[in-house]
Amino acid sequence: MNASPFDVDLYRQHLGHLQEEWEAALAALGADFAVLPSGNAAMYFQDDQAPPFHPNPHFARWLPGQECEGSVLLVRPGARAKLHFLGGDDYWHMPPTLPEWAEDALDIARHSDADDLSSAVSKELAGCKRPVLAGPADALDLNLGLDDVNPKEFTARLHYARAYKTDFELDRMRAATAAGVAGHIAARDAFLGGGSEFEIQLAFLAGSSQVTSELPYPSIIALGEHAGILHYQHYDRTRPAGTRSFLIDAGARADGFHSDITRTYSASPGDIFDELIDALDEKQQAMVAEVRPGMTYVDLHVKMHHEIAELLVRFGLVRCSAEAAFELKITDAFFPHGLGHLLGLQTHDVGGQFGAPDGTVAEPPERFPSLRLTRSIEPRQVFTVEPGLYFIPMLLDAIEERDAVDWEKVEPLMACGGIRIEDNVVVTAEGALNLTRPAFANLAG
Ligand code: GLY
Ligand code: MN
Ligand code: MN
Repeated sequence: MNASPFDVDLYRQHLGHLQEEWEAALAALGADFAVLPSGNAAMYFQDDQAPPFHPNPHFARWLPGQECEGSVLLVRPGARAKLHFLGGDDYWHMPPTLPEWAEDALDIARHSDADDLSSAVSKELAGCKRPVLAGPADALDLNLGLDDVNPKEFTARLHYARAYKTDFELDRMRAATAAGVAGHIAARDAFLGGGSEFEIQLAFLAGSSQVTSELPYPSIIALGEHAGILHYQHYDRTRPAGTRSFLIDAGARADGFHSDITRTYSASPGDIFDELIDALDEKQQAMVAEVRPGMTYVDLHVKMHHEIAELLVRFGLVRCSAEAAFELKITDAFFPHGLGHLLGLQTHDVGGQFGAPDGTVAEPPERFPSLRLTRSIEPRQVFTVEPGLYFIPMLLDAIEERDAVDWEKVEPLMACGGIRIEDNVVVTAEGALNLTRPAFANLAG
């Protein structure tokens, strides 16, 4: 895809930040050298075809958007990072090339043969006290001890730190957002034009300028009751008659960084489903406005359950009080997933459940085991805020307090599947900046 241009000055600052971060992680481990293989595509079983290659995220953070296989980056204190780059002639595939910004910022050794590259890396290790591998263990035959291959505390420290985005990363996430939102608008128009799920997905891909293999995650394009399947994975070719709703959860990548965006639409403006969408949208925006450093994300998640309870009462979907809907766990049936997760080089970015840089785990509450983000909220974190309100038969059927639900109101809504509204936000010193809404506003009209 063609993301907006890359700011080389921001990239250089980003590299300076990474150097400090990795030096600190190496020092904490007592190591003096990190080896970051980009990795190699894994073939399907007994096949010569592979799923789209995703580089080792540690490598991708240093060399964004370069999906080169078989290369290795070396990081050591007090020296520029060195890239052993696997290139060379090829007539089966287009060989990888390095952009100028990488040539300027890194020391580079070029190899046309993977074995030569491995022995060059081994030679570099010869003089160091303790090298450590950060990436796929089978990428190179380096004879490192078990403790030196992705050691737990070292990995935890890096994963913990990855939650704090540099200005460069924020810039790339804004680019990913702009592309994703352009796709969303094309998809919404395809829905309003009566398109099938398949046609809507094609509109999303064209609008966001992506092919399927470039997507951050498979787009969820759900018409009607399919919206009640949280990770619905098909693209129905038929145009369903009388579809009442459309949920799209789809994002884009820019130089490896992701956006993760959901919108829900009603085909009948003004109906109860449409009103519920507006009401949940308001709750979502109010929640983003409440984000402050120092809170924990668990607090937000629990608060959203109370807000969902209030909606259930306000729309007459339950007959009990909001407090009872929360206490009786009725809200769990209507909102069965976590409020959100960290976002970055991975859609569900690493480090969401850490309580400290050493990898101490901050467990989710027993009632909400699927909550992926339990950290305290701090500036430069980027996470999603994605409340949902669904009408999922298997979850609603399991509600024990049958009389607490107004089934006459709830059952017709099952044909609409459900609602999810998902934005990506960056935490600031004062609160949170919504990355997604301004992108929609820019493209409105
Ligand atoms: N698109 C997957 C999620 O929202 O977590
Ligand atoms: Mn998400
Ligand atoms: Mn999503």
